[in-house]
Formats: sequence, C-alpha cells, structure tokens
Amino acid sequence: MASTPCDVAPKSKASLEDDQPHLANSLTTNMTNKVETMIWQGGTEGHLDMIDQTLLPNEMFRIECRDVETVWEAIKMLRVRGAPAIGIAAAYGVVVGLQTVNDETEAFFARFDEVTAYLATSRPTAVNLFWALDRMRRKMDSVREDLSVAEIREKLLVEAKLIHEEDRKMCHSIGAHGADLLKGVKGVLTHCNAGGLATAEYGTALSVFFTAQDQGHDLHVYVDETRPLLQGARLTAWELMQRGINATLICDSMAAQVMREGRVQAVVTGADRIAANGDSANKIGTYSLAVLARAHGIPFFIAAPSSTFDVTLSSGDEIPIEERSSTEITHGFGRQTAPTGVQVYNPAFDVTPAELIEAIITENGVIQPVNEENIQRVLNYV
Ligand code: MRU
Repeated sequence: MASTPCDVAPKSKASLEDDQPHLANSLTTNMTNKVETMIWQGGTEGHLDMIDQTLLPNEMFRIECRDVETVWEAIKMLRVRGAPAIGIAAAYGVVVGLQTVNDETEAFFARFDEVTAYLATSRPTAVNLFWALDRMRRKMDSVREDLSVAEIREKLLVEAKLIHEEDRKMCHSIGAHGADLLKGVKGVLTHCNAGGLATAEYGTALSVFFTAQDQGHDLHVYVDETRPLLQGARLTAWELMQRGINATLICDSMAAQVMREGRVQAVVTGADRIAANGDSANKIGTYSLAVLARAHGIPFFIAAPSSTFDVTLSSGDEIPIEERSSTEITHGFGRQTAPTGVQVYNPAFDVTPAELIEAIITENGVIQPVNEENIQRVLNYV
C-alpha cells in the first residue's frame, strides 16, 4: 500500500493524443446531459464504477474499482479528480476496502483503520477526502457497539451513498445561488474543471453556468486550458459543449489579454480547501487569475460546498500543497518537451488570499464579504 509518485498515464492508445473526430462524435451521441462520474453497483459486496477522466475527451471508458488499491490509484492518477468527487470515491473506497476482511470484529475494525489511513495518502490538498473519511469513521463509531459487522457494512454503504447524494444536491443549490450573481454578465472565465466530473453531478463553478443557462441567460465561457494536465481543455470545454454552452478555450497565459479586451465580466472557479479566514486553495494558476481580475476590476468568485471548508486551519498558509511528478511538465501526455535533467517545480495548487475573493458561493448561500465571521454564519457554525 506504499504511496509512489506517479504520472497520469492514459490507459489505451486511443486516448489524449488521439483527437480523431469520430471518437469525439461517438462520445457526444452516447452521452446525455448528465455526467455520472461515479456509480455504485450492487450491495455491500458491490463495486465502484467511475469514468476514467484521464482519457477524456476522446474516449469514454469506465473503470471498475473492486479493491481499495484501485480506488487509491484512481485518485492518485486523477482518473477521478476534483475535490468533491475525490471525497465520494474515498467513501466508497472504504466500503470496497472492507470486503477483504471477514465478520470477525477486531479484524474488521483494524482493517477500517488500515483502509482509511491508506486512502488518506492518495492526495493531500482537497479536504473533501479527509472530510469524507472522517464522516465514515463517525458513522462507524456511532454504531460499532450496537450492531453486527454485517450491519455496520450496510450502514457504511448507506453513508457513502448519502455523501454522494448530498453532493448532488449541494451542487444544484450552489448553481442557484451563483446564477443570481452573474446577472448582466456576458462573458465569464473559469479555470481547471469544477463541473459534473469533479462532483456527484452538475459541478460547483460550472453549476453556476448551467443554472444561468437553464434560466435563459446566454453566457460565453472562456476556459483556461489549465497546464500541465489540461483539465480545462479536456474536461471543462467538453462539459460545456455537451450542454450547448458557448465556450472558448484559451491558454492560461491569455487570461490578462482576454480581461483587457473586456471579454469577461466575472471569474468563477472551484476550490479544494478553504481556510477559516476564506483563503482558498485551488488548481495552480487560480491565484494569478484572482490577481489579474483585481487589476482589471473584475469580480473573482469561488463556488464550493461546505465540505470544502477546513475551519481548523486559520489561514491558507496552513493548507498542504500537493507537488506532483516533474514529468507532468517535461513529458506532458507522453512527449518530451524540455531538456533531459532540467530542474522542475510542479505544485498542483495555489492559495488565493481571501481579500482577492469577491464572494464564496456555497449551498447555504453567498459569503460576501469573505471573512471569518461570514464564513461561520453562512456555514451555520454559529
Ligand atoms: O487536480 P485536480 O484536477 O483534482 O484539481 C481540481 C480543482 O482544482 C478543482 O477546481 C477543485 O477541486 C474544485 S472541483 C468542484
């Protein structure tokens, strides 16, 4: 179960480098508007079925996770990614991981500790992972004295399904609150992927755009490609096109020019972890967008569910930032694009200070201005 650094490796040849139109077209016709990132199949002895996001947009391939190692690898390699989706996958991963042990009480509880500790090593930044594992533990602790192991397995599966279903609802509420903030906006910019693929369904930042569209608001969404793993180009552009939203792909370095030309009147992104003071970690490049937005007088919004807040951290300085393999930069999608032996720094996330965030859109409402007091109030902690 040791953690090893690894790269995002496409599973088959017909993958990210293969942009043949017939593949993209067959994908479009096979897909409904709903992106079911994950589906649990069966009862407590069932398995987790998920889209392998490393293959999108050219290939729709689902993976069957029948052991916890496969779930761990899927999270680590970004086959499933995006903070809420990682949490959901981890919750189901606990159920799968417990299948290898029989109903002997001590062995079962020991395995629970082993599986949750293991899953916690998959990725460090998105707090939803730890939030979901903690919820699974609290569920187990609440029933361990009174129920048989077989019954506890059932309760844990129900809890994982609840986490999944609640996220679906949270996304729709975020969309409703966020759409109101975009009244009068024609162009909007987003970064990375905070859509249905990154959540149970519908997304956080993209949910705001989907809801605005459902309300008859024609938005033009500019999509940062999101170096180095291109979640914007591969996933967000794809999701927006699936829903018929006007989407224009740009390189990350073009954002300032797009703002200067007056093409966007708002920026909306997701988040991976939000500290008590509102400092927000999200995909690398988000912080620069917030700085640019401030320089151009454009509001910068974060859309995130309450499961993304980590009020145990007083500021963003305490958020652990994942560093990923150098080959994601030197050998993006298989081709070497930098000299052999070059030094590389590859932080996967950055932290946007609260003072650059106009508002945080949650399922409970909008936090504006962004400060500790308003966070506590909107999240109902006080
Ligand atoms: O490395 P990733 O693809 O998991 O990063 C994802 C993001 O940064 C998303 O913006 C964030 O998790 C919010 S998803 C609703």
